[in-house]
Amino acid sequence: MGGKGKVDALKREVLIPEAAIRKRVREIADQISNDYKGTEPLLVGILKGSIIFMADLMRALSIPVQMDFMRAASYGSKMASSGTVRVTKDIELPIQGKPVILIEDIVDSGLTLAYIKELLEDRGAASLKICALIDKRERREQDVSLDYCGFQIKEGFLVGYGLDCNEEYRNLPEICVLKE
Ligand code: IMP
Ligand code: MG
Repeated sequence: MGGKGKVDALKREVLIPEAAIRKRVREIADQISNDYKGTEPLLVGILKGSIIFMADLMRALSIPVQMDFMRAASYGSKMASSGTVRVTKDIELPIQGKPVILIEDIVDSGLTLAYIKELLEDRGAASLKICALIDKRERREQDVSLDYCGFQIKEGFLVGYGLDCNEEYRNLPEICVLKE
């Protein structure tokens, strides 16, 4: 128990400090509040990674919103190229005629988001935009355009602020890159 923290600290490096995240989240929230003025969009967070971002983002909005969550599992990298994504927890609120904003932690291959976007559009959302904290655009396999994006990152495996590595590090207040 005792030494684990020290070992962990050597394995990661802060990439985006807390203050920079806070500032960027506020900027995105202002943009969304402005774009959706006079409406009450439904924010759909993709579990589990998006919850910290979603919690901070929605509290920085000046418009009313509804919230719901969805969880998707994508198969391992080899099978992922076939675009096989499975919804393991669905939303519970009706989306027919609703402006929907998908909230994602990080977009990598794009397969998960592309699948969910199509699914929700087919169910009759009035509009569907995507808001992601981090965009790893260079690794994209399936084209998905992000309407709101916090940061663009070229490489590295990121943890913290909701992002995990084998379910660890989600509670770090900053975004770190794992070394090795
Ligand atoms: P994709 O866009 O379908 O490849 O899947 C993106 C999902 O993979 C994200 O929602 C994360 O759960 C996970 N992911 C991708 N890159 C990272 C990373 O650097 N750190 C932690 N999770 C990641
Ligand atoms: Mg995720």
